[in-house]
Amino acid sequence: MKDTNLTESIDAMTPQKISARHVNVHYGETHAIKDVSVDIAANTVTAFIGPSGCGKSTFLRCLNRMNDTIDTCRVTGDIRIDDEDIYDRKVDPVQLRAKIGMVFQKPNPFPKSIHDNVAYGPKIHGLARNKAEMDDIVEDALKRAALWSEVNDRLDAPGTGLSGGQQQRLCIARAIATAPEVLLMDEPCSALDPIATAQIEELIDNLRQSYSVVIVTHSMQQAARVSQKTAFFHMGSLVEFGETDRIFTAPEDPRTESYITGRIG
Ligand SMILES: Nc1ncnc2c1ncn2[C@@H]1O[C@H](COP(=O)(O)OP(=O)(O)OP(=O)(O)O)[C@@H](O)[C@H]1O
Ligand SMILES: [Mg+2]
Repeated sequence: MKDTNLTESIDAMTPQKISARHVNVHYGETHAIKDVSVDIAANTVTAFIGPSGCGKSTFLRCLNRMNDTIDTCRVTGDIRIDDEDIYDRKVDPVQLRAKIGMVFQKPNPFPKSIHDNVAYGPKIHGLARNKAEMDDIVEDALKRAALWSEVNDRLDAPGTGLSGGQQQRLCIARAIATAPEVLLMDEPCSALDPIATAQIEELIDNLRQSYSVVIVTHSMQQAARVSQKTAFFHMGSLVEFGETDRIFTAPEDPRTESYITGRIG
């Protein structure tokens, strides 16, 4: 990464929520992430873009220690949320993932009711004292995920019975029900039609009021529409990072330009 870009991000008025420095990831012999340093700002949508296999999902998973669940995976470097080392031995990964929620490419509701999908996290973390409080949490999360009006008359129906776009909004509701501070989304719209995609994009823009959002996407249009910051990854390295408008109009690195104009990928 060029120093000018780093300065650009650090100089920005928005406070940093997550700061990653010199992160390397290996899967056995494969060096998947190579010395990546990046800042994720508060109340900002940051897009991770780059060709397939460049390490976007791997790096995203470093941010809430999801890579801990992969045996061969080794993460080194320094990643902090609000200046707290997320890899510190006293950090509980389960608590961390409530604070740094994740939404996956394929909607993956639990085989439970719509209500219980959303109530699952708050229950584990003891966020409600009684049923009324839990119902309020569930309603609020479904409203913020723009799903309430479509499901409020069938909260006891199985989550898996919803349409793909509704299931993805249910997974977003489930992720925000634990009141996370950061939401990581790995290609959340890739299985959705343009209408559901537009709904999720609008939702992402609203979520920015309360959270930092990091979204991996293969769609340049989507990155340009929803994000304020863009990070371009290539072969495990962070090639360029900065304001989305600038990355798409005046990329500094020829590899970024080739990718956004469709010459590599
Ligand atoms: N569980 C794993 N075990 C071994 N190698 C892995 C694993 N997950 C990813 N890799 C390797 O790490 C590198 C980065 O993969 P990653 O999934 O992060 O890429 P990506 O940018 O998300 O790609 P895509 O756009 O296709 O989702 C690739 O070489 C991949 O083969
Ligand atoms: Mg991926």
